[in-house]
Amino acid sequence: MTTRYTLALLLFLAGCGGSPAGGGDGGAADAGEVAWSAPPLIGPPSVLEDMNPDPHVVEVYLRAELTDLDLGDGTVRPMLSYNGVYPGPVLQAEVGDEIIVHFENQTLQDTTVHWHGLRISDQMDGSPRIQEPVSALGGTFTYRFTIPDAGTYWYHPHVRPNEQLELGLVGTIVVHDRADPVFDAERVIVLDDILIDPATDQIAGFLRSHPELVHGRSGNVLLTNGLVSPGVVGEARPGQVERWRLLNSANARTMSVSLTGATFRVVGTDAGRLREPFETDRLELPVGQRYDIEVHYGDSSLVRLESHVLALNDAGDVVEIAMPAYEVSVGGEAIASPREIRWPELPAPAPRAVDQEVEMAFDAVDDPEMGIMWRINGVAHHEEPLFTFTQGQTVRMTLRNLAGPYHPFHLHGQFFEVEGRPGLYDTVLVDGGEAVTIVAWLDNPGRWMAHCHILEHAELGMMTEIVVDPR
Ligand code: C2O
Ligand code: CU
Repeated sequence: MTTRYTLALLLFLAGCGGSPAGGGDGGAADAGEVAWSAPPLIGPPSVLEDMNPDPHVVEVYLRAELTDLDLGDGTVRPMLSYNGVYPGPVLQAEVGDEIIVHFENQTLQDTTVHWHGLRISDQMDGSPRIQEPVSALGGTFTYRFTIPDAGTYWYHPHVRPNEQLELGLVGTIVVHDRADPVFDAERVIVLDDILIDPATDQIAGFLRSHPELVHGRSGNVLLTNGLVSPGVVGEARPGQVERWRLLNSANARTMSVSLTGATFRVVGTDAGRLREPFETDRLELPVGQRYDIEVHYGDSSLVRLESHVLALNDAGDVVEIAMPAYEVSVGGEAIASPREIRWPELPAPAPRAVDQEVEMAFDAVDDPEMGIMWRINGVAHHEEPLFTFTQGQTVRMTLRNLAGPYHPFHLHGQFFEVEGRPGLYDTVLVDGGEAVTIVAWLDNPGRWMAHCHILEHAELGMMTEIVVDPR
């Protein structure tokens, strides 16, 4: 039995960030070239099997298909999946690996696969503006790219994404760096929500309600790794240290999470590890965002990741509740000498002078057909690229939210800094009525989508491209 709440739109109850804690102090990297093997991952149902004997090539089969899924609430619903599991299997690789994905589409809609966050060629990025979508009922495509950066990324369709992601087409990408410390365990935790129509107990129809058009689709059920109430997911011993890789794959809801029973610090963002890990009480993940955290187990027998959401109670009042999202039971002998986590020192990036400044303003207008149109700089569904830059440029972009709720802005194929925060990102939240300044490192040439990651907003116009001309 799960307690039923009506989940209301989430407010941001705590800022992200916090005070920088001490960074890694440059531990010596292990010399064991030969001995390295990818750490086992706990969490997602499976890892894509590498069919290629070359240790630097990862060759996998990925199939989007119709699948009957049980989200753990006792109902089997017709949904979609990659390779029959939800969330899809993890694409696991090492930085620098060549990836070959033999993709097949057995769903009823055309689709593409976008490798969110990876700085690869635009020809392989899954943009339907570049790639002819892979046709329904048997179309195939081979994605080939080399992974340039370690970190936690994800993959998903870029055709009707508001429907295809909600129905189950979501997977994670874990890119290891063998210089990283070895943990007692690594966990992948995909936070999501889903909208179930109480009348039918099936996934609700798309773009039907006013709130969905305006706020994006907020689910009435929270999911972790594809399950409504995952319960206790694992065991650990006092003194162990783990790396948790968090992703928010919802359509619209920003996840606000905290951890009880253990201490943690943030060691990675969208673009891989941080030079200076930081501590915080609450972590806010807009859709598309990833954080890697280092979790230190202590005496508590239960460690719980909690999602803070606003909900209507039976009396109709809006209250903040903490929903258990992921639990690990802790027991047994304490580790006699807990491992010391030493992150090798990361060199400071070369300082980059801003060469150009641009603005993107987000707003909405009424639309006779769809009800609402979401726009960037006054245009919905840009057909021409909004800006053209040159490879190597550093561009300050001011993102202004002139209308509506928050907009998690995502730029394909590049990383950016967010003013006032450590680390690099590919997604940033722009709150209602606010402006956020980012500094984009435009090092990857190509034509790149830039859009709101509230998938309903993107489908209803909040989508453009930028061009980065090769130098
Ligand atoms: Cu995660 Cu354009 O997407
Ligand atoms: Cu938006």
